[in-house]
Amino acid sequence: MKLVIINGPNLNMLGKREQTIYGSKTLEDINNSLLDFVKESKLDVELSFFQSNTEGAIIDHVHSLHKKVDGLIINPAAFTHYSVALRDAVLSIDTPFVEVHLSNIYKREEFRHKSFFSDIAIGTIAGFGEDSYSLAISAIYSHLK
Ligand code: DQA
Repeated sequence: MKLVIINGPNLNMLGKREQTIYGSKTLEDINNSLLDFVKESKLDVELSFFQSNTEGAIIDHVHSLHKKVDGLIINPAAFTHYSVALRDAVLSIDTPFVEVHLSNIYKREEFRHKSFFSDIAIGTIAGFGEDSYSLAISAIYSHLK
């Protein structure tokens, strides 16, 4: 099963940014733990990763995945709350995905309560820090199998 983990803006700053909310691990640390998680859980999954701070770059990457992967795990970061363009890009490739957030967006400021992705995702996992990603891998794996 081919899965791609896509991270949006400012997630390259994990480990430095707002550590009380997002934790002390870098994105590279998290990605490496996910590779270990897949190996240890003996999941038949090939993982790849993409991060950008630029909406257009993420959209182009999503388009490039059309018919090439089985599923996506997306943390759209701030784009969650306003990007109709990224929502449309995800819809355009008709590939199942799980929406992920490190923090529980529903416990935070009101503007974070609106997601442009939740109603088109298989499901959303939010609030478990880096574990949100491994939970999402397990969830999409069972869903697609
Ligand atoms: C986030 C939550 C968003 O509201 C925020 O803009 C982010 C990260 C999370 O993972 O908790 O950048 O998606």
